[in-house]
Amino acid sequence: MAQHKKVRKAVFPVAGLGTRFLPATKAVPKEMLTVVDKPIIQYVVDEALEAGIEHLVFVTGRNKHVIEDYFDIHFELEQTLRERAKKAEITLLQEQLPKAGTVSFTRQQEPLGLGHAVWCAREIVGDEPFALLLPDMIMKDTKGCTKGMIDLYDTAGGNIIAVEECAPELAHRYGIVGKGETVGEGFRITSMVEKPAKGTAPSNFFINGRYILQPEIFKILETQERGAGNEIQLTDGMLKLLETQDFAAYHFRGETYDCGAKDGFILANMAFAIDRDDIRPQVEEGFKALIKRL
Ligand code: G1P
Repeated sequence: MAQHKKVRKAVFPVAGLGTRFLPATKAVPKEMLTVVDKPIIQYVVDEALEAGIEHLVFVTGRNKHVIEDYFDIHFELEQTLRERAKKAEITLLQEQLPKAGTVSFTRQQEPLGLGHAVWCAREIVGDEPFALLLPDMIMKDTKGCTKGMIDLYDTAGGNIIAVEECAPELAHRYGIVGKGETVGEGFRITSMVEKPAKGTAPSNFFINGRYILQPEIFKILETQERGAGNEIQLTDGMLKLLETQDFAAYHFRGETYDCGAKDGFILANMAFAIDRDDIRPQVEEGFKALIKRL
C-alpha cells in the first residue's frame, strides 16, 4: 500500500459573523455558543484530535478573540479553583487545553467567502495535506467523521470530502458532488457544484463540512473568482483541482447537526443532553412534558 503524507494539521474557519444568531452573536462568537456545557468549537476540535490531528489552525476575524482565550490557560480562574480545592474542574480545564505551540491563529480580514478563508491558512499549513472542519456542523457517531475520512485517505490518498444524502429539494442549499465508482466507504467524485439551481444537482450527496485537501488547493484559491453568493467558493476551487487530482467522497452515516441554523442548534442540544448520564433523567422528564405540547 502506498504511503500517503500524514494529515497533521486541521483548519477551522471561524471568521463568520453569525448573523442568524443575533443578538447573542453581537458579543459572543457563534462558535462559542454552548451545546449542553461545551462550546460548539470544542466538539469540532475534539473530532479532529480523535482523528490524530496534531496542530489546530484557526482562521478568525474581528471580535473573535475569546476563541483565542478559550484555548489558552486562564490563570486567575485556575488559581481560584485551586484555592477552593475544585479538583474535577481543574482537571477538566487541563484536559481541554491544547499543548503549547500546537495552535495557530490567523485572520481573514474581509468576509470574502470560504475559499478565501481557507487560502488565509496557506502559510501556516505549508506544503502538506490538511483537514478542514467547518464549525457550524457537529457530528455524533461512534467513529468521528474526520477519523473515518483519515482511514479512507490512508488507502485512497488524494483529496477526501465527507458527504451525506439530502432530500433532492434541499440540494440548492449545499455543495453537491457527482457520484462515480465505489471506493472503500465512499465513491470517486466526478463533479462538484456549489448551491446548484433547483433541479440541476448532479446527485443528492451534499458536502457536510469536512474535507481532507492537498496543498495545491491554495495556489488555485489565490486566483479563484467569486461564485455563488458573490463569494470566493471553496467548491469552485476544488472543482479545478479535480482536473489534476483524485477526489473521493466519504459517506458519513452518523448524525449531523447544523448549528449554524437555530433548529439544528436546538436539536444538537437535545441529542447531546440525552446521552449525558449526569443530566439525562431530568432532561428526559422535561422532554416528555414538552412533547405533550406538540
Ligand atoms: C459551505 C460549503 C458547502 C457545504 C456547506 C456545509 O456552505 O460551501 O459546500 O455544503 O458549507 O455546511 P455554507 O454553509 O457556508 O453556505
